[in-house]
Amino acid sequence: MGRGSGFGKTILFGEHFVVHGVPGIASAVDSAAEAEVKKSQKGINVTDERSGAKGYAEKKKLQQLESIERMLAAMSMDPKKVAIDIWLGGNLPGFSGLGASAASSVAIARAIAEEFNIDLPDERINDIAYEAEKAYAGNPSGIDNTAATFGGLIWFKKNMGGGSNTIEQLSIREPVEIVIGNTGIVANTKAMVAGVAERKKQNPEKYDAIFGQAEKLAHEGRKALEEFDLRKVGELMNENHRLLQEIEVSCKELDYLVDLAREQGAFGAKMTGGGGGGCMLALTPGKDLQEKVASAMEDEGFKVLRTKIGIQKG
Ligand code: PMV
Repeated sequence: MGRGSGFGKTILFGEHFVVHGVPGIASAVDSAAEAEVKKSQKGINVTDERSGAKGYAEKKKLQQLESIERMLAAMSMDPKKVAIDIWLGGNLPGFSGLGASAASSVAIARAIAEEFNIDLPDERINDIAYEAEKAYAGNPSGIDNTAATFGGLIWFKKNMGGGSNTIEQLSIREPVEIVIGNTGIVANTKAMVAGVAERKKQNPEKYDAIFGQAEKLAHEGRKALEEFDLRKVGELMNENHRLLQEIEVSCKELDYLVDLAREQGAFGAKMTGGGGGGCMLALTPGKDLQEKVASAMEDEGFKVLRTKIGIQKG
């Protein structure tokens, strides 16, 4: 049997903008998807035992199968001829917006490689997971699979010319507590990404100005993280949320959770990932603040993940 795992991630700055070449910052969280792969008799059979948003696994089933076929093709295997049983689990909940699809793709790619004795460096695993991501995101930036493969805190810029993307590991003084709040709405990243591209085409002036602000924010965010100025990081996250509202990818449930987190004292809060549902992220340094914000969301019936950003990989 082959085994593999992939990190979950949260985007601190720049989701959606990264698809169009603006830099973004993502951090792996201390939860991961795990996969086991066994050669079998016939077809590709997936047993998905990840916990999380009700209906997540069912809603993503077709995209998941397409993603596995894409992955096999990227590994020069014929999806029609391969017979494997795949088990998916781990402690990363299947919340939309946590990079669950990329984390599972990385886990599955590693497990397939192990089961078939193929030696693949992380760079290849990352490329294969990027192919798989196309099934979920249509035109993905690559930030999700990069964070899922390498872990850590990542500065990412897509090369719009098709060459290699810029990937830099950032380091911060110490890991910082965050709360991920889940709206419970299973979002369709592919549709959200396509929607932004369409509106950008319709309103180039408005969108170019917003994209320019997002670029500036990513650089300021990097500086604030590296200087460990967490108040500043929080303010910039708030600003990033406003830009995401302007490009119409937030929704009332995300805005509600973002407001709630700020009222409870979070340093900053924003949606994270594709939006239209899925998750938001609150910066809550220290266990006490993290607990205060997390339990306020739970009291309102939302599922949360208490985790940290800036955990060193390994
Ligand atoms: O919703 P998630 O976790 O799959 O994140 C998607 C991030 C986007 O920027 C919206 C798309 C991408 O490929 O970068």
